[in-house]
Order: sequence, then C-alpha cells, then structure tokens
Amino acid sequence: MSSEKNKAPLGVFDSGVGGLTVAREIAREMPCEEMVYLGDTARLPYGSKSPDTVRRFALEDADFLMSRGVKAIVVACNTATAFALPILQREMPVPVIGVLDAGVEAALQSTRNGRLGLIGTVGTVASQAYQKELKRRSPNIHVVARATPLLVPLIEEGWLDHPATKLVLKEYLESFLEQDVDTLLLACTHYPLLKPVISSILGEGVSLVDSSTTCALHLRRIMEEKNMVATRVARGKMDIYLTDQTENFESLARCIVPGEIRKISAAALVSRAF
Ligand code: DGL
Repeated sequence: MSSEKNKAPLGVFDSGVGGLTVAREIAREMPCEEMVYLGDTARLPYGSKSPDTVRRFALEDADFLMSRGVKAIVVACNTATAFALPILQREMPVPVIGVLDAGVEAALQSTRNGRLGLIGTVGTVASQAYQKELKRRSPNIHVVARATPLLVPLIEEGWLDHPATKLVLKEYLESFLEQDVDTLLLACTHYPLLKPVISSILGEGVSLVDSSTTCALHLRRIMEEKNMVATRVARGKMDIYLTDQTENFESLARCIVPGEIRKISAAALVSRAF
C-alpha cells in the first residue's frame, strides 16, 4: 500500500450520534488519522427495522464513505454489524470492521462468574448475533439479553442524566440484578453515554463493557498488519456528514468529540436496489 493511500481517511458510520463514541476511541488510539463520520440521522433508528432494510441502509452508508475515499470502514452501529457485516465485507473493496467481535471479547474478559447481561436494540437482540458468538467462544456462558428500545430516543434527545431516563433504566435493569450478572455488555453504540447512570443503578459489583475501546484496538491492529497507518505527525480531524442535520445532533456531537470536528455537512445517499 502506498503512503498516498495511507493518508486516506478512516470511514465510520452509524445511524446517528452514538457511533461517535467509537470514533472518539479511534481518535484516541490513532490520533494522526483523518476520519469521515456518517450519521444516518434521517433514517434513525435502525434498531427497529427489518434485517433487509438495515442491510440496504448499511450498504448505502458504506457506498457514501467509499465516495469520500476512505481506506477502511468501521461499522460503529451494533444493529448494522449484527445484520450486515458479512455483506459489507463481501461488497466493499476496503477492510470493514464491526463492533460485535470487540464487544464479545471485552465481555468475556470481564466476567468472573460467567453470567453476562446484554442490552441492545430490538434488532440486535432478536438477531441473536451476540448471544451466538458469546456461546461459540465460551459454551458455558449464561447470557441474559434484553432489548431496551426506549434508550436511544432519550439519548438522542440529550437526556443523559434526566429523571425519566433513570426511571426507564431502573425498569430495564432490574432483571439483571435478580439474575446475578457481574458484567453488562452495552451492545449499542449509544449506551456508553449512559454509563454513569447505569453504574449508579447496578452498583460496583457489575462491570459495564462496551465495544468502543476494543474496536479501536482491533482497527489499529488491522491497519498495522496491512501497513495502512497514517504516517503524518499532525493530529487528524473529523469530517461529519449527516443525512438530516439537527441542533441536537450538533450539540451532542461537540460534547462527545470536542476539538476533533473540522466540519459538519449534509450527506445525500444514493439508493441501492436490494
Ligand atoms: N446505532 C444503533 C445500534 O448501535 C442504535 C440506534 C438505532 O437504533 O439506530 O444498534
């Protein structure tokens, strides 16, 4: 791979703002990389859509990133990873990395009693993608999975520490305390933003695991193996593209990745027949 190609940006996409938690870890791990982030805010949520629709959206998102000249694509959306990773890896001419492997690895490293909780969108939980991979790697693991669909709208609203969010979380998390899990896997890009509230409900005995850090480490390893790491010395910046531009997104984005954003622009995606 030529050094010209190494200068190309990394592409990251999600249905909305949540994937910026992954982009933030990538920026920490590989500060010299330029990044293009696509948030498909016009079509959020993906978590309640059918597998075929999520696959089509994911392909269109990846096509858009390819049109910006990215050298690799990170699927920073758990629902899109659960439904579309294999097709993206087949169809895209660059490495495509999802968040599932990273989350599974981090969760298995964290649990001491082999009892794991998992929360995600309706699509992610119903796909069984996480549950199957956890069992494949650790057959005796006990997994308690619960879809928590009310959390994404609350987060997109910026209600990270709002009494309504606490109330909803208490209801959702009760069963994990009853089931004696010692680790909760946050299988949704948005949920790391709720870590402080979730911890205050579950207490110190339950470790919270998300895929963002491990995903950034995976990405760096793959980029190093393929000799695709940017060699510049200056810090990279992030260009954010949105299919619908809202004030909420912009203020949340600036809160999650302060100082990293070069510009926020509108994105027009090209439809795919599927
Ligand atoms: N990005 C999605 C995920 O990680 C959550 C938001 C949505 O439902 O689109 O599953």
